[in-house]
Amino acid sequence: MDEALISAPLVFRDDGTPYSPRHDDIYHSAAGALAQARHVFLDGNGLPGRWHGKPRFTVIETGFGMGINFLATWAAWHDDAHRPPALEFVSIEKHPFSASDLRAAHAAIIDDAAVAPLADVLVSAWPPLEAGVHRLDFDAGAVSLTLAFGEAGDVLPRLGDHGVAADAIYLDGFAPAKNPDMWTPAIFASLARIARDDATFATYTSAGHVKRALIDHGFEYRKVSGFGGKRAMLVGRRARSRPVIQS
Ligand SMILES: C[S@@+](CC[C@H](N)C(=O)[O-])C[C@H]1O[C@@H](n2cnc3c(N)ncnc32)[C@H](O)[C@@H]1O
Repeated sequence: MDEALISAPLVFRDDGTPYSPRHDDIYHSAAGALAQARHVFLDGNGLPGRWHGKPRFTVIETGFGMGINFLATWAAWHDDAHRPPALEFVSIEKHPFSASDLRAAHAAIIDDAAVAPLADVLVSAWPPLEAGVHRLDFDAGAVSLTLAFGEAGDVLPRLGDHGVAADAIYLDGFAPAKNPDMWTPAIFASLARIARDDATFATYTSAGHVKRALIDHGFEYRKVSGFGGKRAMLVGRRARSRPVIQS
């Protein structure tokens, strides 16, 4: 049975970075929220290039938080003359912010004039904080955001029933050491089930047990330069044959 939904409080560290007291972790790197989204999740998944020529492109994200990754992806889609006709973004969130806290968070951290109006549109469409699936349509339905409010371990296994098939996976559930629930073998098994054959993934972590879980569930990974002083992060794709393991 789903737990009751508990919203997240909006808390900032002294350096202005949003912080989760519940998970004792920050929502994004102190070096920049949008810059992190672009380096780790867009570049890490080969976007925007990988969506060229596709009629529809679907991103699955673990952890919606303030929606910075969604906004960066939506803005990149807007900017791209070769964008796919349809962009579908599906994200899971157990502790959503209220609309007013989301607006306050965006005012504090969005430093890009092209992204700020999209953030306003998102907040204006923000659903009630009720557990379950909420679908928001933007740009006359060309862009959809499916927000699954609930525990990732409960929600992810059911996404396939909604016809979700991922082209790109953003693994963004706080650091594995702080929040192991978002990095369990069951989470990777669910992601593997809904990943298309050419699906890619990216994440800021390079923790050993995440690498092992990726391999165990049919993904291959490479280590690349991280963001904001982090030496390494992981990117990869569904394995075509034998997994390629790098130390
Ligand atoms: C690092 S933040 C995500 C940042 C976000 N992607 C963005 O662009 O703003 C991680 C998110 O995962 C959510 N989360 C943590 N544990 C979860 C769980 N077990 N199930 C679902 N969501 C969870 C947190 O509430 C938090 O919003």
